[in-house]
Amino acid sequence: MKIAIIGSGNVGGALALQWIKAGHHVLIGAKFPLSEKNIRLATKIGEDKFTNISFAVKQSDVILIATPPTAIFDIIEQMGDVSNKILIDATNTVRHKPAPYETVYHALTDKTAANVVKCFNSTGYENILNPVYDGEKIDMFMAGDHAEAKQTAYQLAIDAGFGYCWDFGKGNKVLLLEQFALSWINLATMQGQGRAIAFRVVKR
Ligand SMILES: NC(=O)c1ccc[n+]([C@@H]2O[C@H](COP(=O)([O-])OP(=O)(O)OC[C@H]3O[C@@H](n4cnc5c(N)ncnc54)[C@H](OP(=O)(O)O)[C@@H]3O)[C@@H](O)[C@H]2O)c1
Repeated sequence: MKIAIIGSGNVGGALALQWIKAGHHVLIGAKFPLSEKNIRLATKIGEDKFTNISFAVKQSDVILIATPPTAIFDIIEQMGDVSNKILIDATNTVRHKPAPYETVYHALTDKTAANVVKCFNSTGYENILNPVYDGEKIDMFMAGDHAEAKQTAYQLAIDAGFGYCWDFGKGNKVLLLEQFALSWINLATMQGQGRAIAFRVVKR
C-alpha cells in the first residue's frame, strides 16, 4: 500500500518502521521534514522518505494521523483533498480535545470526505515496535463507520505484527476505544505496571 504518515514521533515512527519492513511504500509528511527528531528516524528509513504533508498525501491512498489531537485543523488544511482516501486516526485525547469535536476521528469525518477509521491508539508505541510477548502476538483494536477503511486498518495491523485487530464497533464506539487506550495508560502509568504490558483477547 502507499501510506502517508503525518506525525513521525513515537507512534508514527514505530509504524513507519514496521510497515516498511512489511514492504509498504511509506512517505512521512512533516511540517519540518528535516527536524532533529526526523533526522534520527531518517537514519533508519532513509531521508528520501521525508517530504511535506500535501505531497505525501497526494502520493498515498492511506494516511495515518499520529500527532497531538489539537494539531488536526492545521493538518486538515495542509493535507488538501483527501476524498476517498483512507484516514487512520491513531490519536488519543488525553488532555486537550480538538474542540468542538470529542476526538480527531469526529473532526475528520465532519471536515473531510475521507473514509476514516480509528486504530493503533490503544497501546504504547513500544508495543508497536515489538508486538510479541513470550512468542504470542498481542492484539490491536479499531472502530469506525467505514467498512473498507476497517479492512485496510485490519491488514495494516497484521502487517505491523499484531495477532488480530478486533472490531470495537462503529463510529459511536470511537470514544470507548479512546477510553480503552486510557485504561492501558492507567495500568501502565498510574497503577505502576510499566509500559511493557499489552492486551490480548482470549476466547473459549
Ligand atoms: N506515545 C504512545 O505510546 C502513544 C500510543 C498510542 C497513541 N498515542 C497518541 O498518538 C499521538 C502521537 O503520540 P506520539 O507519542 O507519537 O507523539 P510525539 O512523539 O510527540 O510525535 C508527535 C508528532 O506530531 C508532529 N506534529 C505536531 N504538530 C503537528 C502539526 N501541526 N502538523 C504536523 N505534524 C505535527 C510532531 O512533529 P514535530 O516533532 O516536528 O513537532 C511529531 O512528529 C498522540 O495523539 C498520542 O495520544 C500515543
